[in-house]
Amino acid sequence: MKFQEIKNNIFYCGLNDCDRRIFDELIPLEHGTSYNSYLVKGSEKTAIIDTMYPPKTNEYLKRLNENQIGKVDYIIANHGEQDHSGSIPALLEKFPNAIVLTNPKCAENIKNMLHVPAEKIREIADGEEVSLGDKTLKFIFAPGVHWPDTMFTYIKEDNVICTCDFLGAHYTFSDVFAVESKELEKSAKRYYAEIMMPFRTMCQRYTKMIKEMNVDMILPSHGPVYKNPAFILDLYEDWTSDKPKNLVVLPYVSMYNSTKEMIDRLSEKLNEEGIETFKFDIVDDDLGDLAMALVDAATIVMGTSMVLAGPHPMAVNVAYLAAILRPKAKFASIIGSYGWGGKLFDVIVNTLAPLRLDLIDPIQIKGKPTEDDFKKVDEMAKTIFEKHKSIGIL
Ligand code: FEO
Repeated sequence: MKFQEIKNNIFYCGLNDCDRRIFDELIPLEHGTSYNSYLVKGSEKTAIIDTMYPPKTNEYLKRLNENQIGKVDYIIANHGEQDHSGSIPALLEKFPNAIVLTNPKCAENIKNMLHVPAEKIREIADGEEVSLGDKTLKFIFAPGVHWPDTMFTYIKEDNVICTCDFLGAHYTFSDVFAVESKELEKSAKRYYAEIMMPFRTMCQRYTKMIKEMNVDMILPSHGPVYKNPAFILDLYEDWTSDKPKNLVVLPYVSMYNSTKEMIDRLSEKLNEEGIETFKFDIVDDDLGDLAMALVDAATIVMGTSMVLAGPHPMAVNVAYLAAILRPKAKFASIIGSYGWGGKLFDVIVNTLAPLRLDLIDPIQIKGKPTEDDFKKVDEMAKTIFEKHKSIGIL
């Protein structure tokens, strides 16, 4: 298949991976993903920006052969993770005169992870420019979105920027240009939640920087190319903003329905107070949906049954996930039920501690909730209402 031209001798030479169902062995993928690679043909030199996920290397090389791209002078590694740098050794074999251009941190990574020989790498500096003849590549270091080795490559004359993982989406396509839709927005948000949210303040900074650059197109390393950069930049501006939305996330695991009954009651009461809720069944639901809800939530209330004198392990798992994703939530609490005894809260409170949430008094009951227990839940709803009011989201 012929490479699709993106703009003026810049071609898409990446691949879809429609069958991939999970990324990082963590968050399910609804639409597979793409590993984007870009061929940039200058009047004198040719560069490939980012390469391919190792299991796709043969297919990638086959496509490069079919398109008879001739010589390659530079392989640009914007980031060392193997879904983008994994095929560098194979490319160096195919193009023995090519040299890898990358930043010092990424150089270290590809030497360690892919055994790329040091003599095949030229380390570049932040802001350095490399000429391809009628095109100039400018390298912009962007540590923290999402690895310390991440950088962007800006193609000056065409005013387009390759942003590596930043602003990407796990999405596949037949035409590389983004069709703006709710489906794409959802995939981009799921991707942001899992990959970028832990680095929210850095994302804020680079969103602003790229907005101010006024680029014509954004070429990320997963998902479609944005001809209208405002589509994805405006979404990032919203997701990375400091202010949460009037939303309570309720992840729960309930063995005999008692915890669930309290979560349902809390959700109902919060809705009556004008607060949106997102109930999440920890055992059956999709972790990606939870991660997306955490992008906006002001409050997290976890529901858990007692298992052997402690919280259910699946609830602890979700608390740990929430802690490492570092959402902007401000408040938290816990609801749960036990059979014969134990402590429901300590492990979860300690696990969530890095988020520095304002803890609302938790509720632990024995067995099935009584009317008195439901009254305590109603009180919790009132407290959450006051908390949301106090930060101006109600
Ligand atoms: Fe898509 Fe950080 O790799």
